[in-house]
Amino acid sequence: MSDHYEFPYPSKELESRHPFSVYEHERLSEEVMEAKAKDFYHKMDARRSVRMFSPDPVPQKLIELAIQAASTAPSGAHKQPWTFVATNDPEIKREIRAAAEEEEEKNYLENRMNEEWQEALAPLGTDHHKEFLQVAPWIIVLFEQRYETLSDGTTLKNYYVKESVGIAAGMFITALHHMGLATLTHTPTPMKFLNTILGRPKNERPFVLFPVGYPLEGVKVPDLNRKELNEIFTTVF
Ligand SMILES: Cc1cc2nc3c(=O)[nH]c(=O)nc-3n(C[C@H](O)[C@H](O)[C@H](O)COP(=O)(O)O)c2cc1C
Repeated sequence: MSDHYEFPYPSKELESRHPFSVYEHERLSEEVMEAKAKDFYHKMDARRSVRMFSPDPVPQKLIELAIQAASTAPSGAHKQPWTFVATNDPEIKREIRAAAEEEEEKNYLENRMNEEWQEALAPLGTDHHKEFLQVAPWIIVLFEQRYETLSDGTTLKNYYVKESVGIAAGMFITALHHMGLATLTHTPTPMKFLNTILGRPKNERPFVLFPVGYPLEGVKVPDLNRKELNEIFTTVF
């Protein structure tokens, strides 16, 4: 294929109506790309979810930078349909822990999670105790904006909300790991209580709750294996 486009983007007509800029991109050699890719893979392979955090404080600036990195995520129609709500307030963390444990008691002890689900979780050994929610210096709740509400009360649609917020969540986790912090992707479902405790409007729905901090020294994690490339990847030519 030639690099001549019959239908260039943006068209002259489009560019006359909306602003465009030249994308800055440095093309690297394949050797350099492979070295960077291996490095990044090994770095990411070392990420683990932790369930015991150190109480050591973490500056708010670091949380903000991780959220800025997450908010570079692509999103349907560039709506960025997410709100990150962070707290390090001991009383709010206590309330969140209490409400999460109440829901998780029903999930784990009153069989709201069925047997198959509980069996899948068995190697992780998770239960309804969520002490880490009070110990971790920060709790960040990522809310998905199901739709947008304007100041005059009218609403606008958001597109591919779950996909967009899921990508932002992954980038948030990656940013935290990259800077040397740890988190847990936590979903004490149903999570509606987070709207009440954190005072969020009804167009927002809790997506994931992230305790964030340093891992407790010597913390243990399940000895998990990740799928091999040939189990998750195939080619079609
Ligand atoms: C959408 C989602 C929800 C999760 N919810 C919980 C949870 O509520 N509690 C928990 O302990 N771990 C939860 N996890 C963490 C997974 O158990 C963990 O990612 C998985 O075991 C792999 O471990 P790793 O993150 O250390 O690679 C969740 C992960 C995802 C992606």
